Amino acid sequence: MSIAVNCSQLQSIARPVSFTVISPRCPVTTLDTDLSALRVVRRTQRAAAIVEFELVAPDGAPLPRHAPGAHLPVVAPNGMRRNYSIVNPPPAPDAGGPDQYLIAVKREADGVGRGGSASMVDELVEGSTLMVGKPVDGFPLVDDARALILIAGGIGITPILCMARTLLQRHASGECAALPFQLHYLARDAATAAYADEVAAMGTKTATGSQAQVHFDGGDPAAGLDLWPLLEAPRAGTHVYCCGPTGLMDAVRDMTGHWNPSTIHFESFGVGDATQFEPNQAFQVRLARAGDIIPVAVDESILEALRNHGHRVQSSCESGTCGTCRSVYLEGDVEHRDMVLAEEEKAEQLMVCVSRARGGELVLDL
Ligand code: FES
Repeated sequence: MSIAVNCSQLQSIARPVSFTVISPRCPVTTLDTDLSALRVVRRTQRAAAIVEFELVAPDGAPLPRHAPGAHLPVVAPNGMRRNYSIVNPPPAPDAGGPDQYLIAVKREADGVGRGGSASMVDELVEGSTLMVGKPVDGFPLVDDARALILIAGGIGITPILCMARTLLQRHASGECAALPFQLHYLARDAATAAYADEVAAMGTKTATGSQAQVHFDGGDPAAGLDLWPLLEAPRAGTHVYCCGPTGLMDAVRDMTGHWNPSTIHFESFGVGDATQFEPNQAFQVRLARAGDIIPVAVDESILEALRNHGHRVQSSCESGTCGTCRSVYLEGDVEHRDMVLAEEEKAEQLMVCVSRARGGELVLDL
């Protein structure tokens, strides 16, 4: 069988453009208009604090297609909006939508993530209904990559595993040429690492030139994988994809400063290390052009506060990784919590989905 299809066909959803709209007043958000009720038909404990949910349409109809690495916006039972990577690979390009989505949720400790993941794990049972948006391709495989370095930390394995599964599956079925990858999965130990057995079993795929390895550090980062040999020498056509805790992504960012920035890709939602930030404080935002003054509660993002006051704001990842909600601020002491802005941009811009003021007032150019 000839293998002629380019892996660009793996992508089915365009990445959202970076654009922010905040007027006219409108309470409708992208997620609100796209919500569907899916049924939880299976929940599987994948690791000590990680549960995988299988979601299907109540009538069994195919679901909207997703791309490898895409995430699913959901409304947790406690009302919190969260994004979770879809772990199952999309069907073949000509096969329509998938019959189910698989998402894996790590139950974060109390106080981290304001309870969205705890609500998912504690309250969703088989037979429950979950409101979800359409899949968002915020971490897309690029069309022209010739090789991939896939780096996952902890629950960050979910989008990375979907990519690896998709590439191997598509190659095995003859749908596209091999796109070789090196997958490195970093985790504390086997008990806390979801899908570690599957990643380890991938091993070396000689036919595709791919390799997958699991690295346990026992809780001591110094005992973990040394990433520098992987990243020291940029290679033409090689793209790096990384999803995991902030410390891991910071390390990858530091070690890839000499790479072409367009070849380095991050995804962080649901795996951020909230403990590295100052405790949330309430503050207010003043909209310089609209004239509004809007309070932002301790457990509320600027994005949520704007929406709750009738302003429409474009967003996608809602985790500080896609750049869609980029906004300009004029005054205020901002704590940047995104993975998008360059240092020189932070003096004037912020991502309203995650970043906050350290109290007082923040003036937005809106
Ligand atoms: S919505 Fe993606 S960075 Fe804010």
